[in-house]
Amino acid sequence: MTDANVAKRAAAYAAADLVEDGMTIGLGSGSTFLFVLERLSERIREEGLAVRGAPTSTATAEAATAKGIPLVSLDEVTRLDMAIDGADEVDPDKHLIKGGGAAHTRERLVAATADELIVIVGEDKMVHVLGEVFRLPVEVLPFGWTHARRRIEATDCTTQLRKRDGAPLVTDNGNWILDCAYDGIREPAALAEILDATVGVVDHGLFVNMAGRIVVANDDGDVRVVC
Ligand code: 5RP
Repeated sequence: MTDANVAKRAAAYAAADLVEDGMTIGLGSGSTFLFVLERLSERIREEGLAVRGAPTSTATAEAATAKGIPLVSLDEVTRLDMAIDGADEVDPDKHLIKGGGAAHTRERLVAATADELIVIVGEDKMVHVLGEVFRLPVEVLPFGWTHARRRIEATDCTTQLRKRDGAPLVTDNGNWILDCAYDGIREPAALAEILDATVGVVDHGLFVNMAGRIVVANDDGDVRVVC
């Protein structure tokens, strides 16, 4: 296993061990989150853990089903006990960039329904300022997308349409992703407010004041929790 995967697994396992019998939880997306499914499946087999999960993507729904984890849709529940999810960057105020896997719109809906969003990351994702390295993913409607792009670029970034196999990547919601390069996002709340109000933007990957505990692991597998 690579060092990065050691860290991902350690953080994911520590978070999966916070899940209590009978809980209904939000299931995040991404490579780190897959280790949560691995650990939950182990706990179901070994402890008879009763857990149900609301998935944030079709990829997660498929992976959870393959691991024997019962699913619920978000509309079947009024609340979730917790959501567990990865992130692309975490700043000292626990604001996040998400959306590397293009699932941030559903991830926000699931996180907002949960009593707590528990974030799982390797140390490499802990940054001083968001957006100095990672580009902010923004989901846009394909209809009139060049106008959304122009409005987004007015927030001082350059954008790139995310592609797969030469064609625009299509999200689970049928939309496209613009990856937005900023020279650091020093006021994430202000930028989030502008993007929230931008016509043509479906949702963006800035998660401001949404995270609860951050479970961080290093490449040796040591885990710390930022509350
Ligand atoms: C998907 C996400 C992921 O949680 C984020 O990209 C982290 O992914 P990974 O664990 O593969 O690094 O926000 O939209």
